[in-house]
Amino acid sequence: MGRKKITVVGGGNVGASTALWVAQKELGDVVLVDILEGMPQGKSLDMMEASPIEGFDSRISGANSYEDTKGSDLVIITAGLARKPGMERSDLIEKNSQILKGIVGEIVKYSPDTTLIIVTNPLDVMVYIAWKESGLKPNKVIGMAGALDGARLRAFLAMELDVSVEDVHAMVIGGHANEMVPLKRYSTVSGIPVSQFIDDKRLDEIMQRTKTAGAEIVNLLKTGSAYYAPSAGAAEMAEAILKDKKRVIPCAAYLSGEYGVDGLFVGAPVVLGANGVEKVLELELDEGEKKAFDESVDAIKNLIKELNI
Ligand code: NAI
Ligand code: 2OP
Repeated sequence: MGRKKITVVGGGNVGASTALWVAQKELGDVVLVDILEGMPQGKSLDMMEASPIEGFDSRISGANSYEDTKGSDLVIITAGLARKPGMERSDLIEKNSQILKGIVGEIVKYSPDTTLIIVTNPLDVMVYIAWKESGLKPNKVIGMAGALDGARLRAFLAMELDVSVEDVHAMVIGGHANEMVPLKRYSTVSGIPVSQFIDDKRLDEIMQRTKTAGAEIVNLLKTGSAYYAPSAGAAEMAEAILKDKKRVIPCAAYLSGEYGVDGLFVGAPVVLGANGVEKVLELELDEGEKKAFDESVDAIKNLIKELNI
């Protein structure tokens, strides 16, 4: 059995880091695509030259055209503009939807059976556009957001409690926007609800920090947005799919009736395996959580309405 082939589109901050994580995990050979001439080739060569030191056997190559992506098992799209201080993710919608449409058309031309992971913002709308444009089954088009937002919450909880990040589990659902829904009732340390260790007021502060964690990084960096944790999230999803691990990770998945939503991509816990989204898991939500989730869904609907797609 040959190696899997993974294409990462967009060789910027998120794309290049994604390519490196994926290669280091030896998930397969990686093609990094960007419109900038020489840039994906240069970064790929640099990563190849790191491989003897780190000891990973994955070929990484750069490209400016899509012929090189032919027959990809998985494509991760990170191309597009990133936000700067003062911008909302939704401010990127016009430009990034044009960029995404062009890319998805090229991708499915050369890899008609691929699985797509979308990272480009505003995430929940971009994944919807990618699905429409690709003609792929909805389970094969998946948005990366919950992996990141959940990881941020897990990091904050582990920092607060001074325990291993490995033992902290957390769930963030809804859209990848200010209206995202971190679920404190479903946050645990080795199965023990975090509410047994942290009082409610402090927990609310941590949930709020999670919602604005993207902006916190933008304000510190000043020139762009986060990329180490986002790329780690994309690579985690890639691993679940390519190794058919059936991981349970919150992803922007196509909902057909779950959570009372039909025909929209929204963040929810899913089983992620070789078939993409193999199952959407429906959590029991209390009144407050349900209200917050519905508001988050409304925000996604409004963005899609504005775009007229
Ligand atoms: P970046 O500016 O570092 O990289 C973007 C790359 O896309 C650039 O290298 C650019 O040349 C390339 N590009 C632009 N148009 C292209 C096209 N038509 N074909 C191929 N490549 C093209 O930006 P960064 O930080 O890597 O962010 C990328 C995107 O990911 C942004 O939209 C950002 O908002 C989003 N993002 C989403 C996250 C999520 O949780 N879903 C988390 C972090 C970032
Ligand atoms: C983030 O949450 C910008 O969506 C990106 O960091």
